[in-house]
Amino acid sequence: MELNSEVLGLTFQPPLILASGILDQTAESMERVVQEGMGGVVTKSIGIEPREGHPNPTVVELETGLLNAMGLPNPGIECYTKELKELKSRVKDTPIIGSVFASNTEDFILLAEKMILNGADAVELNLSCPHAEGYGASIASDLELMDEVIHEVKNSINRPVLAKLPPSGEIDEKAKVAEESGADAIVCVNTVRAMAINFETRSPILGNRIGGYSGKGIKPIGLRCVYEVYETVDIPIIGCGGVTTGRDALEYMLAGASALQLGTAIKYRGVETPKKITDEMASLMKKEDLSNLKEIIGKAHQLR
Ligand code: DHB
Repeated sequence: MELNSEVLGLTFQPPLILASGILDQTAESMERVVQEGMGGVVTKSIGIEPREGHPNPTVVELETGLLNAMGLPNPGIECYTKELKELKSRVKDTPIIGSVFASNTEDFILLAEKMILNGADAVELNLSCPHAEGYGASIASDLELMDEVIHEVKNSINRPVLAKLPPSGEIDEKAKVAEESGADAIVCVNTVRAMAINFETRSPILGNRIGGYSGKGIKPIGLRCVYEVYETVDIPIIGCGGVTTGRDALEYMLAGASALQLGTAIKYRGVETPKKITDEMASLMKKEDLSNLKEIIGKAHQLR
């Protein structure tokens, strides 16, 4: 069975893409994930200047996923281009998507241009970091600013632009604006704003107090977002949020996703996660007598 998906003129084989923020600091770690069967890679979210990120603790393990407030730590675009070039030379046939964050349109343009110049096939706009003040979260919640950022980035790079949206507010409305501004795909969804409190110390656990919740626990939220966005836009949707098994991946496709991003699942199932999920997808499809993903994508919308 051929499990591949053509999205944005790129072939993802299988339609599983490394989500931003996990194993994506170096060319070596991203190459390793590709060797383990990932069909595409999103880089770490990169900004203009190097950033150290938030104080520890930055990650809390929960029963149903992870809570993190890294604070967008990254080496800055000048330094990261070395990793990108190296990655491009190592994984020739696997699409590379450069993730960028900024607080204004000019910086987004500069970052997107550098990503493309140094080997990225497409750019993902992180419009929705759940807690870094002045970045992300405020962009997707300011529809005018989001429109400007997407429009200007699209005009400056002649490559696909993906808008990664938060699962807050009216996501279908945001997705419609993103589509009208020129986005080529919607990534649905970023982490959910959340927190953890330690009873004994009477205080929030994360150094930043508030962070982003990812993993199994947010799958129903991600599914709902993909489902609503599918009814609103005509551009492809890349599902993200708690995809852990082949069944999860196929459920997201039924809701309308053309491909999936994997992040937190890797923490629970290891670096071999893409191979495991691909095998599970194939055997479930075989059992149901399905041979093509086109028979699945969006099909949950027909039964009402
Ligand atoms: C961070 C950024 C994100 O976009 C997110 O979803 C969660 C955490 C961060 O760097 O802290």
